[in-house]
Amino acid sequence: KDLVLDAVVDLDVPGPTISRHLYGHFAEHLGRCVYEGFWVGEDSDIPNVGGIRTDVVEALRELAIPNLRWPGGCFADTYHWRDGVGPAADRPRIVNTHWGDVVEDNSFGTHEFMALCDLLGTAPYISGNVGSGTVQETADWVEYLTRGDDSPMARLRREHGRDEPWGVSFFGIGNEPWGCGGNLRADQFASLARQHATYARDHGGNRLVRVAAGASDDDYAWTETLMQQVAKLGDADPRDLWQMVSFHFYTFAGTWGDKGAATEFTRDEYWATMRKALDVRRIIAGHSAVMDAYDPEAKLGLALDEWGTWWNVERDTNPGFLYQQNAMRDALVATVHFDAFHDHARRLRLANIAQTVNVLQSMLLTDGAKMIKTPTFHAFAMSAGHHDAASLPVRERTARATHDVDGTAVGTVSASASTKDGAVLVSLTNLDPDAPASVRIDLRGRVASDPVATVLAADDPAAHNTFDAPDAVTPCPLDGVTVTDGVLTAQLPPAAFATVRLTLG
Ligand code: AHR
Repeated sequence: KDLVLDAVVDLDVPGPTISRHLYGHFAEHLGRCVYEGFWVGEDSDIPNVGGIRTDVVEALRELAIPNLRWPGGCFADTYHWRDGVGPAADRPRIVNTHWGDVVEDNSFGTHEFMALCDLLGTAPYISGNVGSGTVQETADWVEYLTRGDDSPMARLRREHGRDEPWGVSFFGIGNEPWGCGGNLRADQFASLARQHATYARDHGGNRLVRVAAGASDDDYAWTETLMQQVAKLGDADPRDLWQMVSFHFYTFAGTWGDKGAATEFTRDEYWATMRKALDVRRIIAGHSAVMDAYDPEAKLGLALDEWGTWWNVERDTNPGFLYQQNAMRDALVATVHFDAFHDHARRLRLANIAQTVNVLQSMLLTDGAKMIKTPTFHAFAMSAGHHDAASLPVRERTARATHDVDGTAVGTVSASASTKDGAVLVSLTNLDPDAPASVRIDLRGRVASDPVATVLAADDPAAHNTFDAPDAVTPCPLDGVTVTDGVLTAQLPPAAFATVRLTLG
């Protein structure tokens, strides 16, 4: 059969480490993500630990979520953290103006989020409020979270029942400041971000990774403005202000106004989706190039702290809740992102898919007490072996097969590989929904053997799991994968994602 991918992987020439934080997640006060998705309250009939759903936590633990971003998104720039601490009955109500114009009772606040992180075994990524908050609020929140002595904020935390400070890994300086986060110009935001970042101090042994809110898509000028602030530090460490710069990139088939439906789409819409998703490579490379000019040693990281598919909402749901189904197509969008992340691991160090439960490209969907895993969940689970592994570049020997999408040649196969703990993990994606793909990879160097292959596939890229058929799309063993004389061969079904795990000789 014609080879769709013919490539070489040098097992003895590892590239940069794939930070596990590239597999981060995002939970915003938006629709049914936090409320219903994670938080049901202690009095709920749905099994919970301190108000947090047990089924959701158990499922997500399978993904070894490395970090969780909260409370937004756009919501973060309306959020005043003091509204969400102290006795729940005394917490003020606010209106969630960005998302559904619904009343938010603040029953899920800082303590509840940190308890969720503990249950998931994940690092917190807190998004600060630059759009409508004060520098003092930022300073106080960080002190409240991370300070151990009897400072004013540490005392307040103790009054609210938590003695020890928490460890906080990531702190976001704003979110989409060019839009919902204040409609600011890049230079305006840069000034504000310098202030907030300065007062988001390190307390005790806690070392924050401050993430300056960045560009939309390929707005490289925004990244340049942020990197110019770093350059102004002169000989000082470029990490003195912030340690990462972010950008956001979403995938859809149509336009912002009409993005297309999650499960009803034509072949043209399918391929338009893949063309858009694959564009993430160009955009990561573009931001990286700007950063390279100011920081050639890559001391600062690039963060893609919102990504994923964004479809028109499901029928009869609140348009402000961004609830969408999740099909095999979504899983493939995720896996081509993973491959791009692995290839850019030197600079890209953090990524957060939007969002974990019931919003946009979720891992899980819930309906009352019911919960299902999406195809995207399975793609994440199958890729967990890449966390903190050394990337292994996949070098093509011949050009990969392509599909013409309105004049753009879109590769029909995507691949990446990594090594960790004496094993190799190869990820293979066949984007073609109408043809299988034959793959041959020459594994050079240490002989690898004993392939264990798993595949996520469906006859139709629109296939998805429902509450009545929760396992319509689920991983299963992939037969016929061989390694002979160091050459791996596999045949992927149409619209499929496969992983092959090998033991190094
Ligand atoms: O993830 C949904 C929204 O998308 C976020 O709140 C915002 O940052 C982005 O526009």
